[in-house]
Amino acid sequence: RVSDGVRVFSLKAGAGRTRILPELDTPTWGYDGASLGPTLRAERGEQVAVEVTNGLDVTTSVHWHGMHLPPTMDGGPHQAIPAGGRWRPSWRIDQPAATLWYHPHPHGTTEEHVYRGLAGLFLIDDDASSRATLPHEYGVDDIPLIVQDKLLDRDGALRLRRDGGEPGILGEVVTTNGIAGAYLPVSTERVRLRLLNGSTARSYEFGFGDRDIQLIATDGGFLDAPLTIDRIRLAPGERAELLVIMKPGEMARLRSFEVGLGGVAVPFAMGGNDAFDVLELRAAASLKPSPAPDWPRSRHADEDELHESAVTRTRAFELDERKINGQLMDLSRIDEVVTVGSTEVWEVRSTVPMPHSFHVHDVQFRLLTIDDAPPPEWLRGPKDTIYLEPSRRYRLLLHFADYADPAMPYMYHCHMLWHEDEGMMGQFVVV
Ligand code: C2O
Ligand code: CU
Ligand code: CU
Repeated sequence: RVSDGVRVFSLKAGAGRTRILPELDTPTWGYDGASLGPTLRAERGEQVAVEVTNGLDVTTSVHWHGMHLPPTMDGGPHQAIPAGGRWRPSWRIDQPAATLWYHPHPHGTTEEHVYRGLAGLFLIDDDASSRATLPHEYGVDDIPLIVQDKLLDRDGALRLRRDGGEPGILGEVVTTNGIAGAYLPVSTERVRLRLLNGSTARSYEFGFGDRDIQLIATDGGFLDAPLTIDRIRLAPGERAELLVIMKPGEMARLRSFEVGLGGVAVPFAMGGNDAFDVLELRAAASLKPSPAPDWPRSRHADEDELHESAVTRTRAFELDERKINGQLMDLSRIDEVVTVGSTEVWEVRSTVPMPHSFHVHDVQFRLLTIDDAPPPEWLRGPKDTIYLEPSRRYRLLLHFADYADPAMPYMYHCHMLWHEDEGMMGQFVVV
């Protein structure tokens, strides 16, 4: 709804029941429904206002993952919404077209809230993306895919137990948009899949096996050019937009294959050997032709600043089992103070043979190098979350354009949500 030039959304967190598996009712949480949440969508330059109501009987919050916005609107642990409470953030969309998402971020209980089903997509459009001839009919050839794994008891209840310990709850049932066994009737030659790894702990290696895919966008927007790949690894919190070409009458199966997790200890215990069906694409006997995609060139607001030559400061972040630079999260401690308008390099390294997924609020960064070598092409797009292969040094280039506020911090943390809850998080202010 648009009122007085403001795009207005409302979201209500509440409890319900979902048929994740046929014939079995699972108690879940969702926004405006039993699980997940509506896809929000706005244009670059638009002012948005959201009214969030907490219909749960516990404190929650709603964080806009990947969004560039003032820290008071960010929805992190400092913007907690008590049971029955209300929160009204508002900001101007100021970033290129992208597939972002939203989810709770309450201090110490984020894993449970996301696992129970609180998550939704937030799509941003801009001039370039609406001019481009990419598939863009929502639900027809432009498909949101929220992938999560669940562990279900025999009676259908979600199990919140971490049997093997690390890296958190690994479910045996993979759900796509909230259910197992999802399929998609396809009516066009080209389909765009907006994939979100919304799992709390599991990483996936998405692909088809029998066909190539075109990677067109990562977390924060389009790549400089489409990239032909056969598989892509997504850790918790990461997104990818893919184009798939279908032939009339055929069936294609999006799967998650064995995942290369780098040098983690006992990769099979981390879910590395697991494989799943994610989505079956069923093409109609005749398909509407899709124009060959012409390439959108979104202008990134920070394009000029996002160069290594602009860097004024380098910071190092060392992650062990739960600590970042030797410390656990403390809501009353500011870990890093960043100067507004500056460009920095953050060198991030996991020192333990364990999977971590590093996320920074407020910005989209670029990966400069991994162990001083240029990153693979699929990691060269705009990112806000990145899987850390143990022992390797990831150099991230970030620009903090505006929204100086010494009183309210943004977060950086591991997006494996159990790790986050246990304190693997730090706070930075922009001043
Ligand atoms: Cu999606 Cu602070 O997280
Ligand atoms: Cu975030
Ligand atoms: Cu972690």
